[in-house]
Amino acid sequence: MVKELLMTPKIIAPSILAADFANLQRDVEMVNQSEADWFHIDIMDGVFVPNISFGMPVLRDIVKHASKTIDVHLMIIDPDRYISTFAGLGADILTVHYEACTHLHRTLQAIKAEGMEAGVALNPHTNIDLLEDVITDIDMVCLMSVNPGFGGQKFIENTYAKIKKLKALIHKTGATTKIEIDGGVTDQNAEKLIEAGADVLVAGSYVFKSKDQLGIIKHLKALVS
Ligand code: DX5
Ligand code: ZN
Repeated sequence: MVKELLMTPKIIAPSILAADFANLQRDVEMVNQSEADWFHIDIMDGVFVPNISFGMPVLRDIVKHASKTIDVHLMIIDPDRYISTFAGLGADILTVHYEACTHLHRTLQAIKAEGMEAGVALNPHTNIDLLEDVITDIDMVCLMSVNPGFGGQKFIENTYAKIKKLKALIHKTGATTKIEIDGGVTDQNAEKLIEAGADVLVAGSYVFKSKDQLGIIKHLKALVS
């Protein structure tokens, strides 16, 4: 229990990448019924990251059944090509990678113009300082706590230091940006991440590989509330 932070509700976002794709509707309904807040959807192109996940037809069918916020994490090069497509599919938040955008400021405005919240993800090696001139334009920063491309990887401990640095930048600039943590989240690090300043925790394998998925989500939610 993170008592001093009771006033700000923290968000749990199960990552559908770890779901059973042969039983996708069942897993989407599980998240609907759970205490989770968002669906985290990983889109990979096999170029920006060394893996391909799923694309538009699958997202369309997820959205048909999902009753919570759709948080789309694009791990693709040149994401500007697909901003309006993802808006049309029902994304509420669209996150692009800093490393994949040549004109990040323009990309963020384009996402907002489509009525979505604009997120920026940083790879583990990418320095927080690079966001200084654009932080007030960003609704959410997604700090990758693993190298993007795969679920089930080991959490990178340097993430705590990055959260603190990002939180200081947000305070300094008066921004209202949320901080999302993506990769290797479990009950072993959830509280410490929230204490460091995180607002949103993405959890893939920890939720979906469990035999008691609803119970695990409830447990995570209780740890951060
Ligand atoms: C990794 C993805 C993550 C992934 C997290 O590239 O962005 O969202 O699904 O999975 P876990 O929680 O298993 O590390
Ligand atoms: Zn993700």
